Formats: sequence, structure tokens, C-alpha cells
Amino acid sequence: MAITRRVLVLGAGGREHSICWKLNNEGVKLYASPGNGGISQIAECLDLATYDDILRFVLEKGVDTVIVGPEQPLVNGVADMLGASGVRVFGPSKRAAQIESSKAFAKGLMKKYSIPTANSAVFDDYDEAARFVRKHTWARVVKADGLAGGKGVFVCESQEEAINKLRELVIERKLGDAANRVVIEERLPGEEVSFLVFCDGDSIAEIAASQDHKALLDDDQGPNTGGMGAYSPLPHVGEETLEKIRSRIIYPTVAALKSEGVTYKGVLYAGIMLTPEPKVLEFNCRFGDPENQATLPRLTSRLIDAVDAVIDGRLHAAKIQWSDKAACCIVIASGGYPGKYEEGLAIEGIEDAAANGAIVFHAGTRLTEQGFCTNGGRVLGVTALGADIHAATRKAYEAVKKISFRAMHYRNDIASRAIKAMGQENFDGFLKME
Ligand code: AMP
Ligand code: GLY
Repeated sequence: MAITRRVLVLGAGGREHSICWKLNNEGVKLYASPGNGGISQIAECLDLATYDDILRFVLEKGVDTVIVGPEQPLVNGVADMLGASGVRVFGPSKRAAQIESSKAFAKGLMKKYSIPTANSAVFDDYDEAARFVRKHTWARVVKADGLAGGKGVFVCESQEEAINKLRELVIERKLGDAANRVVIEERLPGEEVSFLVFCDGDSIAEIAASQDHKALLDDDQGPNTGGMGAYSPLPHVGEETLEKIRSRIIYPTVAALKSEGVTYKGVLYAGIMLTPEPKVLEFNCRFGDPENQATLPRLTSRLIDAVDAVIDGRLHAAKIQWSDKAACCIVIASGGYPGKYEEGLAIEGIEDAAANGAIVFHAGTRLTEQGFCTNGGRVLGVTALGADIHAATRKAYEAVKKISFRAMHYRNDIASRAIKAMGQENFDGFLKME
């Protein structure tokens, strides 16, 4: 008789819904904390507020594996705490998660091991940082050292703007302790790609490359968000570039972590600027959101096998396979996001969108007696697969058009770079029609 796996997924976003969706298709029995409206349809959702709550629940239900979605619990040491009690956890230790939790740590590692990244300097003093910005015309990106929920990076147009941001962070302490230290960086031009790998501390296995769209509005205008859409693969980024990313960034970073005595188990996410020589913008210690919603639907082998291989240190022998099909995910956000927005709005058309063959991943949603309601900034991620990026994107937008809630917002140009580079005609036509 088949042994049913029991997995607890921590998190509440579209990333976690895509993890649950994939595992559900693999016959895994799922629990999620806290989950969201969509996750609640395939997993038992509950609120486990503390490590003790998680541990008690894991033991009580016979959960065999905990998968940690977001960075914050990893940075707080959830993998260490549960691991110390004998629980199998997918996600790096607190020490390893520093690659995301401290930009100064990540920059220091890259500098020491000659991993290509933007020039930078770290400061804890406003006057010194401001002097540095005045002296170097390239120093136009201001970053809080610590986690700031995606709100700690400021790509500035001028010296004045950079100095104003410094004042807000260091003197006015607008992001609190996250900006006890600040990183001043060179502003890199170019296109960004997300290159993620599974890592078992020793070996790696690639996750299909993808591209996110950080800005709120079309043509990369407006403020940065958590990500407004993603697609995979990247037909316009050549194999030569991907090979440079592997050989100059990914392998050296894993080797650097090992040399520093850091055992990195989980997903290592490199945010890379093609400048055209690839350079690291940031590392994250977890899957991407919304990248996951565009990559996991392309994973044809079992996710649970990859998770096991990471935890057990068997990645070298794992067979992780990706579909030749392309996938595109369009994020639908609440009007006002990433600023203030209304919650509790009724969402219409989810079933119609899914009937079209799209996968509707939930992020900020809640299931009520009246149906699904909005419950966050990024509300849904609508993914479609297709023979190529053009077909996948067209299908995803057709599904998006079936969905409605008051003041909903999405970008009209997700994947447009790849589609235009492929020489597709009438691109603007099909996206902007109606
Ligand atoms: P990070 O969290 O460090 O990836 O920064 C968030 C976003 O800010 C990135 O995805 C880029 O769009 C932008 N960014 C960060 N660092 C730089 C840089 N050095 N040059 C240009 N843009 C940057
Ligand atoms: N999509 C960006 C991130 O996951 O950090």
C-alpha cells in the first residue's frame, strides 16, 4: 500500500499555493499555516503561531516534512529549531539564510570570492555614507542591510535623491532596525533574470530560469512591488549567458558558502542583472514569488522527490525534469498596492478562468460563505502553459480577463521582452485589445 506523505507548508502567498498545488497533484496529504483561500481547498489550513505550536502539530499529525515558503521564518531560525527536534525541514538554517537577511553579509561573501556584483560599500553612519554618495557618481542605489519586506531598496536618479533616502533610513529610521546598516551600491543598467537552484549543501540542481517584473506599471514604470508577473523559460537569454551565470555565479557561490563552513540546504535564488556580463543584484534563501507560479507548473518530475533529495543530501542522483512548454504568470493586485488598498472585495470569475485551462494561484485571498474575497496586495497569479512564451502569455491574459474585483490591477506587458525578441507580430495588439 502506498505510504501517504504528510507535509506542512508554512506561508500564505502565491508561492506557497504553487507548492501545495504541485504536491497535491503528487498525492501528498497537505497542511498549511496560515495558507490562503486557494490553499484551503487542497490543504488543511491552521494558524501555528510559535515553533512550539508547529512542533506539537507535526508530532500530533505525523507530518513527515515541513516546507518553509517565505524568508522571515528561515531568517528567524525555524529550520534550526525544528531540525534540532528531529523534524525534516526544507529550507536553510538561520546562518545560511544570512545570504538574504544581511545584504552586507552577501556583499562580503561576493567580494571575498570574486563573484561578480555591483560595486558597493557598507555604512552605519549617515555622514560617512552621504560623503561617499557625493564622491562617487555611480553610488545611486541605497539598500537597508536587513529584511524590509521588499521595501528596503531605492534605485535613485540623482545624488540628492540618494542622500534623502539615506536620511530617511539612517536618521529618521523609517525602516527601523533593518537599516542599522546601509549598503550603497552602483546602479546597474540592464535586464533582470531570476536563476534558482536546489542545493543540498554540496550538489545543486537547476530550477528553470525565469524573469519577474518588479515594477507596478507597464514598461517598468511606477514603484517596485513583490513582483507583478513572471515567465519561464527565457528564450531570448542565450545558453552562453546562462552558462556564465552557472560558472561565474552559482557554482562559486555554493563553493564559497562551503568554504565559509555554511551548509546551505534549500533553494538558493540569485537575482541577476545582465549588464551584459551577468552580475548579482541579490540572493534570496527561498523560492521566488511569482517566479514559482511560472516554474513549478513546468516541473514534470515530482517536487516531493526534489525536496527529499535536498534534505537527504542526494541531489547528485536526483532526476529533476522540466517541460519544454513555456509558462507565464500574470499577477492581479488590489488597486492601491503596493500602498494602501481595500480588502474583503468579492472576486468573480475564478472558475471561468480555470475552465479556460489556466491555473489560478491564490495569494491574498480568503474563502468566505459568499465565495473568495480579496485579502492582500497581490491577490491572484494566473498561470498558463503553452507551446512557447507567446502562446502561454496569450492564454494567461485570456484567463485574466475572466476575473474581476473592484479596482483590480495587472500589468499588460508581462513577458513582452521575450515575445518581442522572438519577433512576434501584433504583440501590443493582442495584449491591449478590448
Ligand atoms: P534587491 O532586493 O536587492 O534585489 O533589489 C530590489 C530591486 O531593486 C531589484 O530587483 C532591482 O530591480 C533593483 N536593484 C537592486 N539593486 C540594483 C542595482 N545595483 N542597480 C540597479 N537596480 C537595482
Ligand atoms: N519575485 C521576487 C522575489 O521572490 O524575491
